[in-house]
Amino acid sequence: MNIDDIIDQLGGAAAVQTLLGVGPSAVSNYRLRGAFPEYARVRIWQALKARGIHVNPETLADLDTPPTASGQPASALSHAVGMPQKTPQILLIISGGIAAYKALELIRRMKDQGWAVRVILTKGGAQFITPLSVSALSGDKTYTDLFSLTDEAEMGHIRLARDADLVVIAPASANMMARISHGMADDLASTAVLATGAPILIAPAMNPFMWANPATQANTAILKSRGISFVGPDSGDMACGEDGAGRLADPMAIIAAAERMLPGQGKLQGKQVLVTSGPTHEPIDGVRYIANRSSGKQGHAIAAALAREGAKVTLVSGPVTEPPPPSVQVVAVTTAQDMLDASLAALPADIAICAAAVADWAVDGAGASKLKKTDGAPPELQFRENPDILATISTHQQRPKLVVGFAAETDDVIAYAKAKRARKGCDWILANDVGQDQPVFGADENEVHLITASGASHWPRMSKHDVAKYLTDAIIKEITHG
Ligand code: CTP
Repeated sequence: MNIDDIIDQLGGAAAVQTLLGVGPSAVSNYRLRGAFPEYARVRIWQALKARGIHVNPETLADLDTPPTASGQPASALSHAVGMPQKTPQILLIISGGIAAYKALELIRRMKDQGWAVRVILTKGGAQFITPLSVSALSGDKTYTDLFSLTDEAEMGHIRLARDADLVVIAPASANMMARISHGMADDLASTAVLATGAPILIAPAMNPFMWANPATQANTAILKSRGISFVGPDSGDMACGEDGAGRLADPMAIIAAAERMLPGQGKLQGKQVLVTSGPTHEPIDGVRYIANRSSGKQGHAIAAALAREGAKVTLVSGPVTEPPPPSVQVVAVTTAQDMLDASLAALPADIAICAAAVADWAVDGAGASKLKKTDGAPPELQFRENPDILATISTHQQRPKLVVGFAAETDDVIAYAKAKRARKGCDWILANDVGQDQPVFGADENEVHLITASGASHWPRMSKHDVAKYLTDAIIKEITHG
């Protein structure tokens, strides 16, 4: 029996993914290797038995691979000609805490996925597990010391950071998060995090009070604002005898989150997205301008969340202090007219999200010279209406398949947002209440309603990063299931 026949008998690749709790890349790796990993063999054997198919579990470790068009088995071909099947390279950082022992299971699961795993074990991590057990599972040397002459000669810390397709920190202690949020580089782990250009996934694990402490929460917010992803922590009984949020996420949940972040794995791979963000500044004269309170936090978080799913994102941003999200092309603009020009230049796109707070009016005849105070009356400013970027994109001949706008309203939020959706011709509107006691501008949280052709749904108050994640999930659903 070859491995493809077994996968077919079990209902196809998707059914095998569900049965084993692995992602699509794992199943294609099993096909290429002609083998299921050790832990999976009993489950496969049982599932086949339930279907009346009896195999020896041992044979599941060495199956035939189906022939390719050239007549060669896939596995033979991949080894013989060095197929472009690039093995994802994971840099796993294990920091201190009792949950460090679960990182051993995580390494096994990563290897089952067919990923190459290099491990940095911090001093704290090494109090709980040994470099020897890590190496036995990773099949590689365990890296521990920033100033080790032998390590530097074999694998410099910069190469360790640069070779990675993804950096996973699991478990991440409160101390580790505090140090990387402040850009420290006083050990191998923090230096590698600072030197990497790869996406970073953090799986925190600590005592519930330490997790809830405002210092840890502030560090988490800083790390998220830099585009770093989090999985967990989970809630439940802790090894320290307390109960609450702080448990390391389940290894399979960490694998699933990591898989989404690997290049070529996101659900929006190949999709082109335009996001507008931040305020616009409209000059009054050479030194003054009209602005608004938009911070760009929401638009930037949306750009980062879409990029994490593999989308190619162009972020057209007005003047903000938010850092540019990783793996996003940022086009910095000042005025509404600049923003329109840059947005149209980013078409064609599959999706457009207009999150910017665009000034409705520009000052007519604003020149480079500073207006001077005179003894007479103050100057009178004449305004002209700015172009509406959202409406222009919605009716453009290269209109993206999905156009999303925002509506900031003070009264009758849903009714006004529905009317705005129709008026501007976009598909969805994310509407928020910016009434007096509803801080939105500059805040870290947002409470929105999603208005679509089929109605309105209310999302509870959550961080702007979570709004971005919810929106990204809704977009994936829309794009993939129509
Ligand atoms: N928008 C835009 N270009 C403009 C004005 C707004 O692209 N010149 C977009 C915003 O990015 C947002 C949406 O339109 O996605 C709604 O903006 P809002 O300012 O709430 O709407 P207005 O057109 O100003 O309508 P109103 O004055 O009725 O609130």
